[in-house]
Amino acid sequence: MTITESCTVVIFGATGNLARRKLIPALFQLEVAGRLPEKMVILAFARRPWQREQWVDEVSGMLLEKFPHGINEKAFERFRERLQYHQGDLADDEAHRRLRKVLDEDPAFPANALFYMAIRPAEFSEVIEKLSNAGALDEKNGWRRVVIEKPFGYDLLSAQILQQSLSKYLTENQIYRIDHYLGKGTVQNVLVFRFANLLLEPLWNRNYIDHVQITHSETLGIEGRADYYEGAGALRDMIQSHLMQLLTLVAMEPPVMMDAESLRDEKVKVLKAIRPIPQNAVHAHAFRGQYTHGTINDKPVPGYLEEEGVAGDSSTETYAALKVYIDNWRWRGVPFYLRTGKRMIEGSSAICIRFKNPPQHLLRHTHHEHSKPNWILLGIQPNECLKMEMQVKVPGLEMHTRTISLDASYRKGDEREHDAYEDLLLDVMRGDHSLFLRYDEVEWAWRVVDPIVKVWSMERDFINTYPAGTWGPRGTYRLFDRDDQFWRHGLGVEGADLQAY
Ligand code: BG6
Repeated sequence: MTITESCTVVIFGATGNLARRKLIPALFQLEVAGRLPEKMVILAFARRPWQREQWVDEVSGMLLEKFPHGINEKAFERFRERLQYHQGDLADDEAHRRLRKVLDEDPAFPANALFYMAIRPAEFSEVIEKLSNAGALDEKNGWRRVVIEKPFGYDLLSAQILQQSLSKYLTENQIYRIDHYLGKGTVQNVLVFRFANLLLEPLWNRNYIDHVQITHSETLGIEGRADYYEGAGALRDMIQSHLMQLLTLVAMEPPVMMDAESLRDEKVKVLKAIRPIPQNAVHAHAFRGQYTHGTINDKPVPGYLEEEGVAGDSSTETYAALKVYIDNWRWRGVPFYLRTGKRMIEGSSAICIRFKNPPQHLLRHTHHEHSKPNWILLGIQPNECLKMEMQVKVPGLEMHTRTISLDASYRKGDEREHDAYEDLLLDVMRGDHSLFLRYDEVEWAWRVVDPIVKVWSMERDFINTYPAGTWGPRGTYRLFDRDDQFWRHGLGVEGADLQAY
């Protein structure tokens, strides 16, 4: 295990949604697991005129919200000692200068500093500039690392501009562009599954694979984030970042080594090989939709247009589906279908890989029904799993076949599931960039979706809709290359038979 040096974790936006739902709970879980370095301090940078004790109460509230069954009291006693509060406005130079002074001069604060930007993307540049002007990014006494949340820009051009401005103040080595999907168990397991098992590699290409589907569906709506979501939409929020990352892991070549640069080099090659989608072909490659009111878990929920903060005539998509081709030797001609949606019938994320049919129907003259293909299913959430579907004979005198699922659950009963942010926060403290995005990855991912962003932003008059609590808008079948391709819903064997569009 790499030694994790002590540091001060400064959270900008410490009272916001991300800190509440993900960062503070993840740091606390690391505390429970005994993985936080001794003397590490968590310093909230926030506007409210609070004393430290109010921040401690706030954190305790966040933890109870996240873990309603109670928290480990002993761990919380240790955790509360780490909590500090720095009152200040993001736009105030003086607040940044005071922060620099605290970090440099107060011995209670470890010299290494991790700045977490849990703030609105529009504020990234300004805060980093102010930190730099205050001298808080100088690495004289210890390291300075900055974690940037997604979205990194809102299109190709703005990502380029953001990068230019960050690189004035930070080296690439100091920047950690986070995509929390890369911290999820199954996502990391994709690499192990592919590269530690020889038997898959000969099959992992256009000769045997019919198509790949990557799905992230949620029952949640926009959770009071209209301010952000209205300008983002599902394509930017999920596909440009998380789903595109999953695609690179499924499609990449084995790297020469497992270090950060070798891995990221291979991922970039995949993104570069994605066939560009010309603006006049956007409708053949992409589909969007917006939820209307409906029912989730037997409760009525409002439509997107009725959500607080959403414009009455908004055409922001809450569902997006995309088809891409990777024009390289391994994948040419194999469609990759990506889809995501809010307020869908269930919340699940999975990678489903469908194989081609055997070349000859040898069992045609028996009671064997139409042949069913093999699938490899990688469940990301809610259950991490790894399944392989095959055909077997049904016991008995007749020659009937059925689909069975080889279920290779890889988590043992006593192995705790942990949140992606736990892994990723530790990685930043250790200085490991492997699961963070290099700038060129972000830029190439924007190149893929940019034409769609442009076309959709011009077409404001009409958007397909779907009732909340369903699998999304009808009509997405037009993305499929052939009639026998369809969205797979669920990872049970019956999922293979649900011909859903
Ligand atoms: C975030 C998106 O990046 O990922 C959210 O902004 C989305 O809209 C979330 O809900 C999904 O992540 P998870 O880990 O909760 O599945």
